[in-house]
Formats: sequence, C-alpha cells, structure tokens
Amino acid sequence: MIRIPTGPGATLALAMIIGFAGMAGAQMPMGEITGDAEAGKQLYYDHACYACHGYTGETGHQMKLIGSGFLLNEQTFIIYLRLRTELNPILPSEAMPNYPEESLSDEEAKDLYAYVRTFADNAPPLQDIPTLNAIIESAAEPYSP
Ligand code: HEC
Repeated sequence: MIRIPTGPGATLALAMIIGFAGMAGAQMPMGEITGDAEAGKQLYYDHACYACHGYTGETGHQMKLIGSGFLLNEQTFIIYLRLRTELNPILPSEAMPNYPEESLSDEEAKDLYAYVRTFADNAPPLQDIPTLNAIIESAAEPYSP
C-alpha cells in the first residue's frame, strides 16, 4: 500500500514532490505498466473519470501523458489520486475528487493507470480545423455592425 504521510513536514515534502512531478515529467521516461488496461477501462467508467476527462482523456480536463509528472509512473499516479484527503488537503483548490484506498485499491489504481496510458493525443493541428480557421479569419476583420 502506498502511504500518504501527514503533518506539516510531510505536507511540505509532498508539495515539493508534486511541484517536481508537475515540472519534470517532460524529461523523464515513463514507468512500467503492471496493471490490466481492460479492467482499468471499466474502472474509468465506474469511478466517473470520464465525466471530467472525457472518454479518451482528451476532452474536458485533458490528461497530458507527455509532460505530466502525475502520469509518469504508477506511484505518482496513485499519490495524485489520494492527495485530496481531509487530513492532508495539500491541493485545497483542486476540483478533482479524492480517491482513497477504501474506494479504489492500489491494484485497481494500477489497472486504471494501465488504461490511461493507452490514451493517444488525436487532436489535429489547429491549421487543419476549417471551422476554427473560419472563425479566426472573420474575427480578424474590422468590426462593422
Ligand atoms: C469532478 C471532476 C473530476 C473527476 C471525476 C476526475 N478528475 Fe482528474 N482532474 C480533474 C481536474 C479539474 C484536474 C486538474 C487539476 C485539479 O484541479 O484537480 C484533474 C487532474 C487529473 C490528473 C493530472 C493530469 C495532468 O495532466 O497532470 C490525473 C492523472 C487525473 N486527473 C486522473 C483522474 C482519474 C484516474 C479519475 C477517476 C478515478 C479522475 N481524474 C476523476 C477533475 C476530475
């Protein structure tokens, strides 16, 4: 089980880990996957992750597989899920729910992680979206009511 330390010292240490994870993700190789992506897919629906992150992690609040330290490996992912406890509200302004071990075990979290790692960034380059370009062009015209 991954224990989340509590207390002021631990809070500071966690804050540093999170800061580091948030910034350093881009340069580091991603960790190994030990969970079952198929089981993780079901958990992604059962725990309503899709409601805020979309069915592919691309819509709503996007999960950035490249560059997010929270998705770097199973440990950072699990810590992130368990971070928002009442005991240790290290990220109090966050809009994401807390997922304690009682509702999502470490094994399940690893399955979830395996599924999230299957997400690909399928967004087309901005110049390839005709409607968006039409909007940008018309917005560049001088306003004449
Ligand atoms: C009620 C909305 C909501 C739900 C449900 C939710 N999240 Fe989030 N999630 C967020 C928001 C908002 C953020 C951005 C940081 C923040 O404000 O908490 C986030 C951030 C993340 C990140 C960090 C992404 C990055 O690019 O660094 C991960 C990983 C994540 N969520 C995984 C999950 C998983 C897995 C579940 C389901 C078990 C889930 N989330 C459920 C709202 C949600």
